[in-house]
Amino acid sequence: MGGDTDFEAKIQELKRSLNAVILAHYYQESEIQDVADFVGDSLALAQAAAKTQADVIVFCGVHFMAETAKILNPTKQVLLPDLKAGCSLSDRCPPAAFKAFKEKHQDAFVVSYVNSSAAVKAMSDVICTSSNAVKIVNRAPKDRQILFAPDQHLGRHVMKQTGRDMVLWPGSCIVHEIFSEKKLVQLKVEHPDAEVVAHPECEQAVLRHADFIGSTKGILDYVVASPKQKFIVVTEAGIIHQMQLKAPGKTYIPAPPDNGCACNECPYMRLNTMEKLYRCMRDRTPELILPADLQAAARAPLERMLEWS
Ligand code: 13P
Ligand code: SF4
Repeated sequence: MGGDTDFEAKIQELKRSLNAVILAHYYQESEIQDVADFVGDSLALAQAAAKTQADVIVFCGVHFMAETAKILNPTKQVLLPDLKAGCSLSDRCPPAAFKAFKEKHQDAFVVSYVNSSAAVKAMSDVICTSSNAVKIVNRAPKDRQILFAPDQHLGRHVMKQTGRDMVLWPGSCIVHEIFSEKKLVQLKVEHPDAEVVAHPECEQAVLRHADFIGSTKGILDYVVASPKQKFIVVTEAGIIHQMQLKAPGKTYIPAPPDNGCACNECPYMRLNTMEKLYRCMRDRTPELILPADLQAAARAPLERMLEWS
């Protein structure tokens, strides 16, 4: 690659001149993962954002992740390649409707999944991610009803793991809800030597076929450590890039969705491209801007999550 398309070299140069750190989620395209300083799941990215010494955080993920980085670093500039990179889970939990839901359960302890807006976080007692949800719910006061939002499937999985009864917000992710149980069972028959690894945002009908259920990092660590050689991967296909880097000799089969596509990609995550990443660093825009009072209100539940993790 050369000239105007040599984004990798230009991004590396801008990283140095801006004293920037690039944080990327596993669902980003491979080139973005390769140019990032740190690749992780939502919890690891929030932890990395909380302790960075860089002046500028370039967040290659979706909006709620960049928002989290900003809330934890109010004095730093947070850039993201595409402001429109949202999240269906977050969109399906509008703050006004969530406020009404909370008012119906006034004494409840509110645990919100990090895939939510800053306004929803601000109305919560503590935040969780898929990798620490069980731990966080286990620490919730035993004498209080728990409200869990916005992902009902993660909520059901956590209820099973903790034995805690929770009132669930009826949200779901457009990527994880369309995995097909029927096609997954067919794949298992074709590959009886494969283990099934799945993200807890999948429906129960799919999760019951999984050998391992975990966050993106949990799934990655599991396949690297497993003595098995073949895996059916039931989450966004971007994670397979790190699997191939960390355990190159193994076989990874993306689980089929029910919509006829060959693989499953998050349309929001995939809005980010190398070109947009380069341009956002060059022009220092788009920048994540969030009112200071909203940041302050959402900070306490996020910091409680980091403390409890
Ligand atoms: P992880 O925290 O497991 O990376 O999940 C983030 C996400 O958006 C899953 O769809
Ligand atoms: Fe949101 Fe689903 Fe995309 Fe994750 S995969 S960012 S939950 S829409």
